[in-house]
Amino acid sequence: MIRRMVTNSMPQFPAGFLWGVSTSAHQIEGAADAREPSVWDVFTAEPGRVKDGSTAAVACDSYHRYPEDVALLAGLGVDAYRFSVSWPRVDSPGGLDFYDGLVDALCAAGVRPVVTLFHWDLPVALDWLERDTASRFADHVSVVAERLGDRVAKWITLNEPAEHTLLGHALGVHAPGRRLMFDALPVAHHQLLAHGLAVRALRAAGTGDIGIANSHGPTWAASEKPEDRQAAEFYDLLLNRLFSDPLLIGRYPEGIGELMPGDVEADLKVIAEPIDWYGINYYAPTRVGAPQGAEIEFGGLSLPAELPFTVREIEDRPVTDFGWPVVPEALTELLTGFAERYGDRLPPVLITENGCSYEGVDDQERIAYLDGHIRALHRAVEAGVDVRGYFVWSLLDNFEWAEGYARRFGLVHTDFETLERTPKASYAWLRDLLRAQR
Ligand code: BGC
Repeated sequence: MIRRMVTNSMPQFPAGFLWGVSTSAHQIEGAADAREPSVWDVFTAEPGRVKDGSTAAVACDSYHRYPEDVALLAGLGVDAYRFSVSWPRVDSPGGLDFYDGLVDALCAAGVRPVVTLFHWDLPVALDWLERDTASRFADHVSVVAERLGDRVAKWITLNEPAEHTLLGHALGVHAPGRRLMFDALPVAHHQLLAHGLAVRALRAAGTGDIGIANSHGPTWAASEKPEDRQAAEFYDLLLNRLFSDPLLIGRYPEGIGELMPGDVEADLKVIAEPIDWYGINYYAPTRVGAPQGAEIEFGGLSLPAELPFTVREIEDRPVTDFGWPVVPEALTELLTGFAERYGDRLPPVLITENGCSYEGVDDQERIAYLDGHIRALHRAVEAGVDVRGYFVWSLLDNFEWAEGYARRFGLVHTDFETLERTPKASYAWLRDLLRAQR
């Protein structure tokens, strides 16, 4: 019995390891009437864009109920809370007062604020195809840093520019709903430039501890056939190198720089401005093969036939309600591979998102998912990867973009009729895990 307990107990993470949970403004705040619109408001108003026809006008109503959310964070015992500031709210009269109050409440509860400066909700008047959006972002960042910089523990410039480029501008399944395919590449470049300018703006405002949250995951070729390997390499380049190579080694992967707009060499110097840590959002690996000439359904998306790869099923694995395979050891593979590729160029790593969608309050599958991934993370630490923190996506069930309210990623259940919050079994499980880590 004792042996069993010892075998099952979570290994200890290094002292000072930062445990947290993540959310984003558009997905939880609601109070859309108290801010300017974003591209997501326009997108969700168009019929057929969001699967359940919902919008985030109310979402979890965290704008009004944030004291309740802060109490949930304190009860969970996390060190840090990652949330995003909505750029259109910051631009609205009194918008920063809301974040000022939230940051104060977090500090009073002993929870360190980790602020994402852009999590996809671009003001409607702006467009990432325009270079000028990068400097507008730097201005926004200066305004936020000026007001909150004395209390924010860590800054995240951008959340997943890869998904925002791919889903929002290449495939059109997220806002702003463009289907530009490879003509969406300037959107990637302008976000990267925005990141570099934001790092400079934050430092100029006297703040520091800056990172970015990029999505990554191992890419597995569907077979050893050259055409499958080539397709997988291409997918890997898009997901795992397009953003990290410029950020960490100051250049684009072969053949990409030529496709980017402007004075790319000069921009790369800004983009590669050193950061204090590198954030990774990890959910699942992807199995990729040669194109099959037909539209495919994957993870809730319809991928067009003209893509130079297809995403294939990973067999013999449990899947979440979203259909994403559960492969914890791929997180160890990802981190050790990343450390190997970037060597000394890689600053300390934080897992800025990891989680899964499942129904129900007695969410044993979520516990199994998180348990497996935290152990896989520990194996990466043991293998020498300098990982300094782990954030679960998400605190609350929330507005899951094009899926609406149909996918539940929370440690806390949200009743979207009454807005009542109910901690799930995973909330208690994580609370106990964090106590045992201290
Ligand atoms: C995003 C979140 C999203 C989560 C689950 C990440 O791509 O940053 O906003 O809710 O994954 O899909």
